Amino acid sequence: MLRDRHGRPEGDHFVHHGTDLETVWEGEVPHLTPNDRFFVRNHTGPAAVDAASWRLLVTGDGVGREATYTLSELQSFTSRTDELALECTGNGRRYFADQQGHERPGTQWGLGAIGVARWTGVPLGTILRHAGLLDSAVQVMAVGLDEPYVDGGVNHGRVRRPLPIAKALDDVLIAWGMNGQPLPRDHGYPARLIVPGWVGIASIKWLGELRVTTTAETSPWNTKWYRMHGVGWSDENSTLDRMPVMSCLDTVGGPRSGATVGRKTHLRGRAWAGEAAISRVEVSTDGGRRWHDATLVGANEPSCWVAWTLPWTPGRAGSHDLVVRATDTTGRRQPERAPDNEDGYLFSAAVRYRVDVACQAAG
Ligand code: MTE
Repeated sequence: MLRDRHGRPEGDHFVHHGTDLETVWEGEVPHLTPNDRFFVRNHTGPAAVDAASWRLLVTGDGVGREATYTLSELQSFTSRTDELALECTGNGRRYFADQQGHERPGTQWGLGAIGVARWTGVPLGTILRHAGLLDSAVQVMAVGLDEPYVDGGVNHGRVRRPLPIAKALDDVLIAWGMNGQPLPRDHGYPARLIVPGWVGIASIKWLGELRVTTTAETSPWNTKWYRMHGVGWSDENSTLDRMPVMSCLDTVGGPRSGATVGRKTHLRGRAWAGEAAISRVEVSTDGGRRWHDATLVGANEPSCWVAWTLPWTPGRAGSHDLVVRATDTTGRRQPERAPDNEDGYLFSAAVRYRVDVACQAAG
């Protein structure tokens, strides 16, 4: 079998973490992530749903009547297509070990548990209102149709997580389209939630039910997992919703080429910030002593990512520590250390990259 330079079968664009797939890029990263390169995070496995018999159920004491919708009924409402990032809560978990000296359990994602797609669907608010949403409703429990999640002999039921009503009515989509195609099976076919800027677990795949309630209900996906646990975390600050500001370095001088003393190269990367947009990206080529403003390139919208570039002419050979940090439009800047927590969620610190500079170009 042919293998690429990372040892993966040729044509495989993922790092495999059990059933989870992490996107790996070589060189420049496209603004939109192709469907077959989009990271996958499944608690059990993809649900096998027959779209013809599939129904979305809207239930609970927060709607005037119980309602069901077929896929074509959902598609008959006015739809929207939004370019949005989807990011796993554990994106960057590996760096708790690599940069902060504490390995945290769970999938050891690098920074490839994020992608950007054009999602087509109907606003969740449209469907809730159509089903007779009551003023007294406070949340929506979105329930997936994948197999119940069993862990350590305990059956935790179907993957589900409550969404506060304010976010549900703001910008959430019930999506059936991804980059102009039906949702691939791994990404929630035939319909899923897309919750812009929030932890990936909020974007429930293989959506089967929306339970709208007038009192707050919990699920293990907002109490046991996907919540901050450990020293310094309490009921007041441990809820996980918005993703933090983050950035990465993608290329040093173009695909597969390194940097050479005295020769100008172009550092490139991306930055993103949960619900916000990016206001600034800074790069240090000396381990964080001096910082240089990078140029933001192309679209820079909330709940998405933006590309950045910075010319660099290395003055000496040998290894250099490059560090990238971003600031978002709400003023959040990536810290030197991410707030620690037992499950390794929301790694948000500036990431460091060791780059070797050659004396001269290979002949
Ligand atoms: N929804 C269901 N029903 N089951 C799941 O396992 N995983 C969640 C979320 N929605 C999950 C789910 C998590 S943790 C993430 S990060 C995103 O889906 C991943 O979406 P993707 O696999 O399409 O990239």
